[in-house]
Amino acid sequence: MEASLHGQKALVTGASSGIGEGIARALAAAGAAVVVNYASNPDSATRVVAGIKKAGGEARAIRADVAKEAEVEAMFAEMLAAWGRIDILVSNAGLQRDAALTEMTLEQWNTVLGVNLTGTFLCTRAAARAMIRQGVVAGVSKAAGKILCISSVHEVIPWAGHANYAASKGGMKLFMQTVAQELAPHRIRVNAIAPGAIQTPINRAAWETPEALKSLLTLIPYGRIGVPDDIGHAAVWLVSDTADYVHGQSLFVDGGMTLYPEFAHGG
Ligand code: BGC
Repeated sequence: MEASLHGQKALVTGASSGIGEGIARALAAAGAAVVVNYASNPDSATRVVAGIKKAGGEARAIRADVAKEAEVEAMFAEMLAAWGRIDILVSNAGLQRDAALTEMTLEQWNTVLGVNLTGTFLCTRAAARAMIRQGVVAGVSKAAGKILCISSVHEVIPWAGHANYAASKGGMKLFMQTVAQELAPHRIRVNAIAPGAIQTPINRAAWETPEALKSLLTLIPYGRIGVPDDIGHAAVWLVSDTADYVHGQSLFVDGGMTLYPEFAHGG
C-alpha cells in the first residue's frame, strides 16, 4: 500500500479487535504512528501493538472506556504528552446489545448509545480541540486534522431487534454531518465509513455456521462477507491528502448491501 501518512499521529478507538484492529494496522502500514485504544482487553491491544511494530510501524496501547468523559480526556492527554499532536481520529469503538424492543432494558439501550454515540461525541470533541489548537502544519497534511467515524449500513437500513444499535448509527450520521459543517472552517475534515457485514467477533452468529453464512450472503450482492482490511484500505484513503476534498460523506463499504438486494429479481 502507498505510504501516505508519514509523520502523522492517529488514534483508533476499539482497536484491539475487529474493524478497529484492521484500521490501526492499515494506518500504521501507511506510515502513521497509532494509538491502539482498548476498553477491557489489554492482551489483545498488546498483540495489535506488537504486530504493528513487527511490521516496522509505531504504536502504543492506551486504555479508556470511550463512554466515560474522564477516561477519554486522560487518553488524549496521554497521547498529546507522548506525541505532541493528533492528526487522525478514527472513532470506531462500538458494540451491540440486541433485544426486541419490548424486551430491551434501559441498560442495554444506555450501553449501546453510551459507547457508539456518546463515545464518538467525547472523542471527536477532544480531537477537535487539539486539532484547532495545532492548525495546519505544512509538510504534515493539507488539513489541520481528519476525523473518521465508523458507522454502519444501519445508519440507513432499519434493523428489527436492534433498535438501540440502529438509533446509535442513525445518530452518528447526523452527528458526523453536523460537525463536518461546524469544523470545516478549521480545516478539519470529517467523514464516515459505513461498513456492511464484516467478519469480526461482533457478528459471529451471522457467519460461523454454513447455514448462517448462506443466509447472510443473500443480503450481499457482491457474494462475499467483508474483511477488516476492506475497511482499513478505505480508511487510509479517506484520511489521506488524496481525499482532501472529501468532506461530510459516508462511504458505504458493504459489497452492495444497501442496494435493496431483494429487488434484484422481481419487484
Ligand atoms: C453490525 C453487524 C452486521 C452488519 C450488517 C453491522 O453494523 O454490527 O452485526 O452484520 O452491520 O448487517
